[in-house]
Amino acid sequence: MKKVIVGLFTLGALTLTVHAYDKVERRHDMQMMEAAMAQIQNGILSNNQKMALQGTSNLKVIANKIEIPQSKSELDYSPKYAKETTQDIMKQIDVISDKVEDGKLHSATASYSKILNKCISCHNKIRTWNY
Ligand code: HEC
Repeated sequence: MKKVIVGLFTLGALTLTVHAYDKVERRHDMQMMEAAMAQIQNGILSNNQKMALQGTSNLKVIANKIEIPQSKSELDYSPKYAKETTQDIMKQIDVISDKVEDGKLHSATASYSKILNKCISCHNKIRTWNY
């Protein structure tokens, strides 16, 4: 019985999380990703491995949420696109961590750019944004 109750709680919490994921939270998470990207860049530029790795782990936690859909009609891209982009970004984050640990900062930066380009590719799909 206890297990069932805990299970129901978890289910409830999950449902709540998905439903509560709205524009405001997405913008907040996006800002957190921007901060994590800045941390990675700062770590690379100041040769501060700890900072760069902290940035990668912060980015990893939030980047996972890119694929969480809001209501479909609110998004200018498909859930499939968001999922694939998330996977690509997650892969590149791991490459950055490995390269930073090996002191290969040019290679780390190449992956950093790949991620940044993924961010921009999706943003280019947002119709209300004019550049
Ligand atoms: C699959 C799509 C997608 C990807 C990938 C993506 N974003 Fe976004 N981003 C959005 C959406 C949607 C918004 C919100 C636009 C709005 O509602 O104004 C946004 C907004 C932002 C904003 C502005 C937040 C604000 O204050 O309004 C920043 C900063 C941002 N993203 C950073 C990033 C970074 C950094 C990455 C890559 C690590 C990234 N985004 C990847 C979809 C994406």
